[in-house]
Formats: sequence, structure tokens, C-alpha cells
Amino acid sequence: MAEKFKIHGGESLKGEVSIGGAKNSVLKLLAASILVKGCTKIYNVPDLTDVSIMLNVLSDLGAKLIYDKNEKSVVVDATNITSVTAKYELVSKMRASFTILGALISRCKEGIVALPGGCAIGERRVDFHIKGLETLGAKIKIENGYVHAKAPKLVGTDIYLDIPSVGATENLMLAAVTAQGSTRIQNAAQEPEIVDLANFLNTIGADITGAGTSEIVINGVKQESLHSAEYTTIPDRIEAGTYMAAVVATKGKALIRNIYPAHLTFFNDKLIKMGANIKLADPTTIEVSCRNRLTSVNFVTQPYPGFPTDLQAIAMTLLTTANGVGIITESLYENRFMQVPDLRRMGADIHQDRNHAIIKGVKNLTGATVAASDLRAGAALVLAGLMANGDTIIEKLHHIDRGYEAFEHKLHKLGAKIQRFNDEISVNNMGVLNESRL
Ligand code: EPU
Repeated sequence: MAEKFKIHGGESLKGEVSIGGAKNSVLKLLAASILVKGCTKIYNVPDLTDVSIMLNVLSDLGAKLIYDKNEKSVVVDATNITSVTAKYELVSKMRASFTILGALISRCKEGIVALPGGCAIGERRVDFHIKGLETLGAKIKIENGYVHAKAPKLVGTDIYLDIPSVGATENLMLAAVTAQGSTRIQNAAQEPEIVDLANFLNTIGADITGAGTSEIVINGVKQESLHSAEYTTIPDRIEAGTYMAAVVATKGKALIRNIYPAHLTFFNDKLIKMGANIKLADPTTIEVSCRNRLTSVNFVTQPYPGFPTDLQAIAMTLLTTANGVGIITESLYENRFMQVPDLRRMGADIHQDRNHAIIKGVKNLTGATVAASDLRAGAALVLAGLMANGDTIIEKLHHIDRGYEAFEHKLHKLGAKIQRFNDEISVNNMGVLNESRL
């Protein structure tokens, strides 16, 4: 059944919200857990479609899983890995499952993983992953849409990435954990999720230094020395940024709990320049508020610690009603302005030329029926719906469910008028949003 959101805009968000575990970290921690011939327990696992897909990938490989949604934990028992194949049916649904390749190479010396193909936001190639694994000594063939990698003996070496790719850095780190000797990844990605993966790997017995800088060194260890452990995933900085923007967008005031403010420095800085007030309430809580109309800013998306591409669409929504003209340059993906046509339908004044968008702030947005085209574009439309006059219907929620746990419930607790419904219930019959049904 196609589910949709109905949002009645104009409410200021107030109260507090707690941020869950980082999607883009936990997916890789789950992949990494197959390195251990035994059990690992991961805490702070959000309930997301993407997490379910990764659990299916692990289950197909023979891992036994216990997912406790109340405790938000997953136990992965990877004592027996009975298959080295990650099927197209799963990898095509979620590109992050390609990270299983490095983990399989480390654990089983072999991996057969479907090539993910492109996706809505861009071509998203995996050539750096493949080139790096070959540099480590893997023999790779691409046949029938699958990457077949054999690596009876990987030998540590220097690998230079043409761009600091998050996924390539992760796949290479995973493969190098049990390689002979030292691997040095230069121009490595520096995202907090990379640091989290390195910390997890060190917790199970790997020897990795430099994560969070552009040079990561992985000293190979014996597979047998990797051991069971428990680990807690870092908070999701993109989920946190989304709620901060939602509070600012609606001229509200709220505490955002369970975050690492240092992971959002660049984004916070832009919000403050736009007129938001951001105060540290305690080391993992910030207070966000905004009273006046925002002022436009310009930004360029960049690898961490630059402005995160995953918050670009959300920040664009803020610019749609800000005072002045803002220019966004998207430097990571070829096609990440998918939200533009729908924002225009809601009254935004946006001119797009290739990877540049010029946003002239209008007085207000108006509700419309729109559709999520990818995860972050979908979240941007939710924000637009919260800001707009009148009702907004958002279709294709499956994109949003990939990355925002209990989105409507958390927003509702902050005072938003938002409801999920499916086609069986006529929107006209819903009348005033019935909060008891949320
Ligand atoms: N690229 C290549 N060749 C490669 C690898 C990457 O050309 O071998 C290009 C990509 O096409 C892209 C750019 O390099 O244009 C950056 O890609 P990167 O590898 O850094 O991204 P990723 O690992 O595929 C992760 C996140 C994305 C996030 C990016 C950038 C996960 C599961 N995904 O993707 O998150 O946008 O890093 O920060 O970790 C999201 O959560 O909505 C999302 C898309």
C-alpha cells in the first residue's frame, strides 16, 4: 500500500527530540561484524529499511542475527559464513551493501557481490573500490553484473584515492584488516562514520590509526586474533541536522539530544549565519531556536568536514523563504537537485544550472502534493510542508523510511501536524488531523 504524509504547515516546532544511531555508520559496522568468527553486539541501531536490507545480506551469508528493536541492538553471530555472495536483489536496493565486499575478502578471501549500478542522485561508480582492492592483491573479474573477487593473499601497500570516497575508504579498510603488513590509504575520507568504523574494527582486534585524517594506516592482523565485542554506534549527524533545520524553518525552539555537535560544525555555522541561535546545553545536547526571517547564504557541498551533501536539499528548503538570494553548488553528485521541481510547485523561486542552484527567497511556500525522489530530497519536502501555508501531501515515503526512524512520530512530539496514511483512507475524510491516530 502506497503510504503518504499529510502535513498541515505553519506550526512552530517546540520541545525536544532524541537522535538515533547513524545510518551510514551502522550499515558498515554490520558489514564489518562478519570479520569475527563469533558474536558481536551493536547498540544504537535505528529501525530503518536500510538496516533491514543489510541484515538480509548478512543472513544470506549464513550469519545468525538477533535484532532487539526495543533495546535497539543487533547481535551478529558470524561463526559460520556459508556463502560469499551478496545478491543483486539486495545490493540494487541499497548501495551501502557493496561494503560487504571488503568484509568478505578479509574474512573469506573471496567475495561475489552484485554491482550496485547508478541511483537517482548520480552515477555513483565503484571504480575506486575495485582499483584499491586490486592494488592490495585481489584478483577481480566483473561478470554478469557481479564483482568476483579472489584474494588468497592480500599484501599491505600504499593506496591513493582520486577523491576521498567514503565507500571506497571503508571497503579498503575492511579488506586491509587481515592483509599482510601495513596499508596506507591516502586522501582517505574523513567522515565521522569512517572514524566509527575504525573504532569498531579496533574494538574487535584490528590495528588502525589515522581515521578522521586524510591518511589511514591499517596494520594487518591475523584473522584468528579478531574477537567478539560490544559497540555503540555514533549518533546520526544528518538526522540531527534535519531536526535542527526543521526547528529553524518553523521559527521554533527545541533541544536536540544525543548528538555530537562537533560532527555538525560546518552546518551549524551556516545556520547561525542565517540567523539561527544554537547553544550547547550539555556535551551531547544543543538548543536550537530562531525568531526572525532567515537570511540567505551561499554554500558548496564538500567531503567532511565541509558542508555535507546529505544536508544540501534540507538547507535549500530553508533558503526558499530566506531574505535574499542564496547560491548552492553541489560538488559531489551530478543529480542531487531532485527536490527542485517539487519545491517550485510549492512556490519556491529556484533557478538551476547544472550543479548550481540560485534560490531567491519568497515570502512563503504553499502546500501541494509532491513526491520524495530520494531520501534527503524527501526529507527536504517534509520541511517544506512544515513551513508552508496549508496542507502538503508527500508521496513515495519508502525513500524517507530508508533513513529517518519514526520521522512523523518525532516531528509530532515537537508539535508538527503530520500524519502517515495510505491510499485506503481518503485524505478528505481525515478532516482535522486526529492526533490520537498518530
Ligand atoms: N565515486 C566514484 N567512484 C568510486 C566511488 C565514488 O566516482 O569508486 C564518486 C561517487 O559517484 C560520488 C562521489 O564519488 O559522486 C562520492 O561518493 P562516496 O563514495 O564518497 O559516497 P558513498 O560511500 O557512495 C556515502 C553515503 C552517502 C553520502 C556520501 C558522501 C553511505 C551509505 N552513503 O556514500 O549518503 O552522500 O557518502 O558523503 O554511507 C545518504 O545518506 O542519503 C547518502 C547518499
